[in-house]
Amino acid sequence: MSIAIKNEAEVAAMRLAGRLASEVLDFIGPYVKHGVTTGELDTLCHQYMVEVQQTIPAPLNYAPPGYRPYPKSICTSVNHQICHGIPGEKVLKNGDVLNIDITVIKDGFHGDTSRMFFVGEPSIAARRLCEVTFESMWLGIDQVKPGATLGDIGHAIQRHAEGMGFSIVREFCGHGIGRRFHEDPQILHYGRPDTGERLTPGMIFTIEPMVNAGRREIREMSDGWTIVTRDHSLSAQWEHTVLVTDTGHEILTVSTGCPERPALLPKAA
Ligand code: MF3
Ligand code: CO
Ligand code: CO
Repeated sequence: MSIAIKNEAEVAAMRLAGRLASEVLDFIGPYVKHGVTTGELDTLCHQYMVEVQQTIPAPLNYAPPGYRPYPKSICTSVNHQICHGIPGEKVLKNGDVLNIDITVIKDGFHGDTSRMFFVGEPSIAARRLCEVTFESMWLGIDQVKPGATLGDIGHAIQRHAEGMGFSIVREFCGHGIGRRFHEDPQILHYGRPDTGERLTPGMIFTIEPMVNAGRREIREMSDGWTIVTRDHSLSAQWEHTVLVTDTGHEILTVSTGCPERPALLPKAA
């Protein structure tokens, strides 16, 4: 495995792409309401990316080996959908929780981030799942510094999510990112401390845990993209793109509307 080290110019371009991806989420938040369709959210984001930001929506026509081209500009994964949900006619209703995943290309570089959104008031169980997934992502990010390992990141995430009685999806993971959407390394959201590749300054990758309320097994829908929980339990996901710096890390997918690290979440030693 060869993990690219980004130079200063590449890091600057990734900072811009990351901020723009996060700003799409800031933009779309107020439209997530009872009665809107996921297809309408896709159209709004597409227009914002192309016309306001002059970014390219990376998902549109994205076709990794073995996949048909992805038909939309964003991913909307509702309730028991884990990831890669294709926007369409689905009407959102109060109580739904959904992940919106945005990847933009600006000046040839990718920024990739996702958040959970509530339609009206979620159930206590749904809110808790989203919170624990958010905390798990942050505990993974906390591990990112030179000399730490990929296993340290995965372990921190797994320990928290499983400790709260939830399960971690194994089939999908975070990824290196840059001029390409998905690069080495794979960032597993489970693992053992002090195992796997060691982090060095200039690496850029995503951390994007998918956490299920029930069992971890998945199923792929017949659209060839949408992934759901096999037991139909709720699933949540959060994603940031992160740079390894000389002293720790810098989160690249930041904007004025992006939720901060929970102040009360204890940092691991
Ligand atoms: N944004 C997703 C990720 O975090 C990938 C989506 S691929 C798509 O890696 F084609 F479904 F958009
Ligand atoms: Co990603
Ligand atoms: Co993403």
